[in-house]
Amino acid sequence: MVESKPYVILNSAMSLDGKISTKQGDSEISCFEDKVRVHKIRSKVDAIMVGINTVLKDDPKLTVKYVKGKNPIRVIVDSKARIPLDAKVVKLKEAKTIVAVSKLAPKEKLELLRKEGIEIIECGEDRVDLKLLMKELKKRGIEKLLLEGGGNLNYSMFKEGLIDEVSIAIAPIVVGGKDALTLVEGEGFNTFKEGVRLSLKKVRRYGEDLVLFFSVNGAKQDLNI
Ligand SMILES: NC(=O)c1ccc[n+]([C@@H]2O[C@H](COP(=O)([O-])OP(=O)(O)OC[C@H]3O[C@@H](n4cnc5c(N)ncnc54)[C@H](OP(=O)(O)O)[C@@H]3O)[C@@H](O)[C@H]2O)c1
Repeated sequence: MVESKPYVILNSAMSLDGKISTKQGDSEISCFEDKVRVHKIRSKVDAIMVGINTVLKDDPKLTVKYVKGKNPIRVIVDSKARIPLDAKVVKLKEAKTIVAVSKLAPKEKLELLRKEGIEIIECGEDRVDLKLLMKELKKRGIEKLLLEGGGNLNYSMFKEGLIDEVSIAIAPIVVGGKDALTLVEGEGFNTFKEGVRLSLKKVRRYGEDLVLFFSVNGAKQDLNI
């Protein structure tokens, strides 16, 4: 366990066969009841974090809908500052946005982002150093962070031991596709023994979706939604 970091909750929706998007990039998976559950979590955390591919593919707003509550800070993990200046998380100012970059990010692009009111955190040589980023976020008062994917960022966060809690909505849909992304991508572990073991805490039905709640490394269930 890494000290001096926010409490991290990974939440995702996936199909019964473990896909978080289809081969064409469709990621509309969960039912309305589950969306409300996720937005309740959003309203209770200090920040939401996603990888840059999620921004490039879905252009999400990452704000709170369906329930009343404050919008959390948006954190985008983007080594080379590929984020488009017209992305919703840049243009729509309902919430603060932080872009975490590495030394590879072009300085001119960082200036343009700063002009849009975006805070830049530089951590890492050629990739965002996630442990360092967690420390920086904690320093800025972020106590609870919701990780909303995608599969590659999920893997790195698991690998670095940075996830405390996991909730996964399983929708009764099968889409297949060897190129469709799964919940956890990346390089992968060689053996199950090396994998990250979770502890099942709760199982609930939300509409037609089944939601599984886990803790990681003995972390306590924090939000209990
Ligand atoms: N169903 C759901 O709940 C759900 C939720 C979220 C996303 N999605 C889907 O997931 C897909 C995107 O997933 P993805 O796996 O392709 O991408 P991702 O996890 O969103 O972003 C990965 C990218 O983040 C950057 N990055 C920087 N530092 C990193 C680090 N230390 N570890 C990992 N990544 C790092 C890398 O790009 P650079 O090297 O350029 O920085 C990397 O390619 C989209 O299709 C989206 O719709 C589904």
